Amino acid sequence: MTDPLELLATDRALARGRGDPCATLCTLANVDDHGMPQARTLVLRDVADRLAVFVNATSPKFPHLAHVSVVVWLPSLNVQYRLTCTTEPVPAALVAESWQLRPVVPKQLDWLYTRVQAQGTPIGSREALLETLASLLLPEPLVAPETASGFFLLPERIERLDLNQENGVHDRRRFTLGNPSWHEEVLVP
Ligand SMILES: Cc1cc2nc3c(=O)[nH]c(=O)nc-3n(C[C@H](O)[C@H](O)[C@H](O)COP(=O)(O)O)c2cc1C
Repeated sequence: MTDPLELLATDRALARGRGDPCATLCTLANVDDHGMPQARTLVLRDVADRLAVFVNATSPKFPHLAHVSVVVWLPSLNVQYRLTCTTEPVPAALVAESWQLRPVVPKQLDWLYTRVQAQGTPIGSREALLETLASLLLPEPLVAPETASGFFLLPERIERLDLNQENGVHDRRRFTLGNPSWHEEVLVP
C-alpha cells in the first residue's frame, strides 16, 4: 500500500533538487476565532522525521491550530498535495534547538513579540518598528523565548493531484489514514 507521506517526501526532495522555491514551503489554513478561514505561507520543516511548522505563540493563529489544512504546491513537478491534519506540539527542547538555526532578525523579532508587542499587532510606523527592534534588550546568550513554538502535522487525509500526465487527464488520489495502513482512492479530477 502506498504511503502518501513517503510520496510527499520523495516529491519534495525531487523538487528541492530542481531548485524549486516551493519545496520548503506550504500554505497553512485554519479557522480563526470569528469562524473565518485564514491562510498563510509557512516553512514546512522536517523535524525528527516528521512534518512540522514553527510559529510564535503571540500570533492570533496560535490558539486555533488544532485542526489545519495544508497545501504544498510543487511547480517544478506540477504536483499539488492537500493535507488535512491535526497537530501536536513540538517539545520545547526541539524548538529551542531548531530556533538556534534561525537568522538573527527572526530571532530578534521573536523576542520583540514576547517582550514588547504581539505578532500581527499594529505599530505606529515602520520607523517605530525598526527603533523598537534596535533598542530591544536581548538575553545573553541568545536563547529561544517561551513563545517560540512548533507543531507537528499529523495528516489524516492526503490528496495528491498530479498535473503532469501525457494525456492531459490529471491524476488525483485521496489517501485516508486507516488501521493499519493508508486507504487509497482515485478521484475524478
Ligand atoms: C516564504 C515565507 C515563509 C514564511 N515562514 C513562516 C514560518 O515558518 N513561520 C511563521 O510564523 N511565519 C512565516 N511566514 C510569515 C507568515 O506567512 C505570516 O505572515 C505570519 O506567520 C503571520 O501570520 P498570522 O497573521 O496568521 O499570524 C512566512 C512567510 C513567507 C512569505
